Amino acid sequence: MQTGEVDQFAVLIRDRLRAWGGRGPSSRRLADALDSLARAGTLAPGSRLPSERDLARALGLSRGTVAVAFNLLCEQGLFERRHGSGTYLAAGAEDAGSPVARLLRPGTVLADLSTSVVPDAAHLRLPALDLTELLRGGHGYDVMGDVRLRGQLRERLGVDPLITNGAQQGIDLIARALVRRGDVVLVEDPTYPGALAAFHRAGAQLVPVTTDADGLDPAAFRRAVEQHRPVLAYLMGVHNPTGDVISPDRAAALGAIAKAEDLVLVEDRTLAELVHSGDTPPPLADVHPHGTVTVGSLSKVLWGGLRVGWVSAAEPLLARITEVKQDADLATSTVSQRLAAALLDQAVIADWRTELVRRRDQLTAALHRQLPEWTWRAPRGGLSVWVRLPGTDTDRFAELARDHGVAIAPGSLFAPTGRHRDHARLSFALSPELLDQAVTNLAHAWHAHHADPVRTHPRHPTTPI
Ligand SMILES: Cc1ncc(COP(=O)(O)O)c(C=O)c1O
Repeated sequence: MQTGEVDQFAVLIRDRLRAWGGRGPSSRRLADALDSLARAGTLAPGSRLPSERDLARALGLSRGTVAVAFNLLCEQGLFERRHGSGTYLAAGAEDAGSPVARLLRPGTVLADLSTSVVPDAAHLRLPALDLTELLRGGHGYDVMGDVRLRGQLRERLGVDPLITNGAQQGIDLIARALVRRGDVVLVEDPTYPGALAAFHRAGAQLVPVTTDADGLDPAAFRRAVEQHRPVLAYLMGVHNPTGDVISPDRAAALGAIAKAEDLVLVEDRTLAELVHSGDTPPPLADVHPHGTVTVGSLSKVLWGGLRVGWVSAAEPLLARITEVKQDADLATSTVSQRLAAALLDQAVIADWRTELVRRRDQLTAALHRQLPEWTWRAPRGGLSVWVRLPGTDTDRFAELARDHGVAIAPGSLFAPTGRHRDHARLSFALSPELLDQAVTNLAHAWHAHHADPVRTHPRHPTTPI
């Protein structure tokens, strides 16, 4: 690493150390900070650490302290020393903690509040479909996507889209088209784990920026742009996990900063049609048209099983992304796209939004009743609530909750620095009956956790659901 890069890296470490407070020997705390940066994707795969001397200088620590921290990490197998060359993130270590793999881990639970998804296609009014009609016309390899579906999206959302295999593929294509190994990508803190995974795979150094109820903090955003010179910033109009909705003023301010700095913004609008009441937030592409790449999806308004999403951008950005799409899989399934087009005609989205508000209220009322210590900001959009469990390590509590039959998503998955350990994301998209039962079981887990926070780990749910 060059001196400037070492200094940037030291900023991330200090940030991590500050967030954790000051207990334990400095070498142990430094090792923990490096461990979490590596696992969470802030260190690019295969990257070399700064030398002990350079890092010690940048952090104002003794070289001995840094050496002890490096030794601890080498003993754990996360880093490896190569003789005469330096200390590296060990091969395969970058795969140790993909947040997506941790979220979608196999195994059954009785109520899955961990994934922020439409639980099944039951809310869809299935049109009478003529299969011959569905399959007629074209060879199915049109990289931009099905003409009818593209026309519908143009009319509904004003975008001229490249159809993708879900928004997740859209983000992955953007990462592969625009990010080179070692580039800095700014992300909201917290943010969507699938984006962390995709940018991390592309070799990005992920830098989190503070958000509040209105979106990214413009002052912090400007500072991060000036300090880190990122290749792009990824943000959401309707936020996963918090359910916050970006305010029009904030969108204008962030768009203006990006435009002035010639910075690419990736706006993820996967949840944009799920604002619970009021208007959908203004697209950032309106403020920064040449430098915004917009991603969207039908997964949260229709059904994730369709795997239909989209990307739109001005040229030449869209051409670069389209080329990567074609290299990756030639085109998205035409059958899925035509089914999606038929379903879009059924206008079920407004009903689903109303139902989601009912389920949100059901979950939050049950939480208020049964878990009064837990706190959250009322979600204004999306399918989940971002809950604070005071004084709790939710990585551990999530395991206990799972043993009580309920999956929740621990907060550490939502930031590249593994922060938010006292938070969890709970989806409210399940049926109201299941939500009530899930909260009852979570309350059992909570009481068991407080009875014996270290060892309590029952093998069977106390209340079956
Ligand atoms: C903000 C956000 N972006 C993208 C995705 C991925 O969606 P898709 O199913 O379309 O790949 C999700 C799914 O949870 C999401 O919440």
